[in-house]
Amino acid sequence: MRLHVNIDHVATIRQARGESYPDPVWAASLCELSGAHGITAHLREDRRHISDRDVRILKQTIRTVMNLEMAATDEMVGIACEVRPEIATLVPEKREERTTEGGLDVEKGGGKLAKAVERLMSAGIEVALFIDPEIRQIDASAALKVPRIELHTGDYAHARGASVAKEIDRLTAASRAATARGLHVAAGHGLDYPNVQPVARIPGVRELNIGHAIIARAVFVGLERAVRDMLDLFRPPAKASAQ
Ligand code: PXP
Repeated sequence: MRLHVNIDHVATIRQARGESYPDPVWAASLCELSGAHGITAHLREDRRHISDRDVRILKQTIRTVMNLEMAATDEMVGIACEVRPEIATLVPEKREERTTEGGLDVEKGGGKLAKAVERLMSAGIEVALFIDPEIRQIDASAALKVPRIELHTGDYAHARGASVAKEIDRLTAASRAATARGLHVAAGHGLDYPNVQPVARIPGVRELNIGHAIIARAVFVGLERAVRDMLDLFRPPAKASAQ
């Protein structure tokens, strides 16, 4: 299991005061030094956190893997084709939302989505589609011939009681279906220290994108420890030693 840390909310703190700090570029390096396998950043159309400057410098400084989250617009595809992150994750974006609220409707995305995928892939960028854990969305993603999907774990993160197991079953079935279609499976959204382990154990899920929870913990314990604490939770439980 690989951890890609989403550093958007370091930029949120910077933007709250219009200052030049804290710098998400520094955060990315610290995350990598602490064992993160990749760095994720979402360049939103309204630039509410990550900026164009961040994306360009991150591409030069990230030593692991850069995953740029973005809407499938001409402007964003143009920026991605110029910057060339290793991965571009296409997400739905609504200006008024607090965060990405649901997955892409790949089935209904039609020509616009297909065109964005084609432009990115011909620039040598691996494309991921951020989708809800639904078979029809997996089929539609496979039909677009993308190499990757990211399963939206928001419903799982918000589930309570008996719904928690139901959401894990949905994610497990989606991971199985996507793996069978040859797709690389990532997952993310709303994952936190208390809820990450059941997702980290879903067969076929190879990468988790986690942002808010890690940056929030870093306020109290520091970014290095926050990243390491999350990585510790990815490890399978130690077998009880025979006496
Ligand atoms: N994956 C995707 C595609 C996202 O849009 C986000 C939020 O920007 C995340 C993962 C990370 O979500 P969180 O900040 O809740 O960990």
